[in-house]
Amino acid sequence: MSRIPLIAGNWKMHKTVEDAEDFVAAFLPLVQGLEGVELALCAPFTALGPLVDSTRGSKLQILAQNVHQAGSGAFTGEISAVMLLDLDVHGSVIGHSERRQFFGETDEALAEKLVTLLQSDLLPILCVGESDEQREAGETEAVLQRQVDAAIAPLTGEQLAKIVVAYEPIWAIGTGKVATTEQAQEACAFVRSRLAAKDAGAAEQVRVLYGGSVKPSNAGELLAQPDIDGALVGGASLEPTDLHGIAAAAVA
Ligand code: 13P
Repeated sequence: MSRIPLIAGNWKMHKTVEDAEDFVAAFLPLVQGLEGVELALCAPFTALGPLVDSTRGSKLQILAQNVHQAGSGAFTGEISAVMLLDLDVHGSVIGHSERRQFFGETDEALAEKLVTLLQSDLLPILCVGESDEQREAGETEAVLQRQVDAAIAPLTGEQLAKIVVAYEPIWAIGTGKVATTEQAQEACAFVRSRLAAKDAGAAEQVRVLYGGSVKPSNAGELLAQPDIDGALVGGASLEPTDLHGIAAAAVA
């Protein structure tokens, strides 16, 4: 089964509305002729509305970086799926390691967030990944299995086929220390095996991305691996030419 690669930038807590507009003004012409790859930007909540408007009709999808699992309620500071739909946002990253680490995001909450996003026809990008200590202790697969199995537990096979999973080893995020192609391929294949344990057909359709210090210079080799269907890009997604370089490597 051939899966269309997805290159998604995760801006994290970077860029004002003006910065975001400047980015797309430079980025859209660069990727205009690029076929065979899907492109997304995961932007701060404040920039979502303006970005959706300025990319309408383009090939760039705009995603959030978090969503609350409940439809509405007394959850000060949170954003619901309905609110994202209201802006024509395309989906959301969930379970990024920074949210797990600094904001107490749990596997149980992520299972609910997946269902909420899918019921709203929003694209979820579920992040998973082990820490340095966990890899050193030989626990990588156990950690990935726990994270993936718990998050997808409530999904039907049909729902599972619609998600994207990003494998992001915490030790490679923002460190310049990229996983070797073997490490990345092995972990992404393991993630897919966990999806297959639930529904083999769906697992073949799910895009599994790699994230962690992806740059134009290392993207080609990573993206050529059979179980790596794209990249979730942090630092290098802040510069239009770098993100374009990574997107171009996906179809080279
Ligand atoms: P870097 O590309 O900056 O390592 O960040 C990866 C990441 O966390 C994307 O979600």
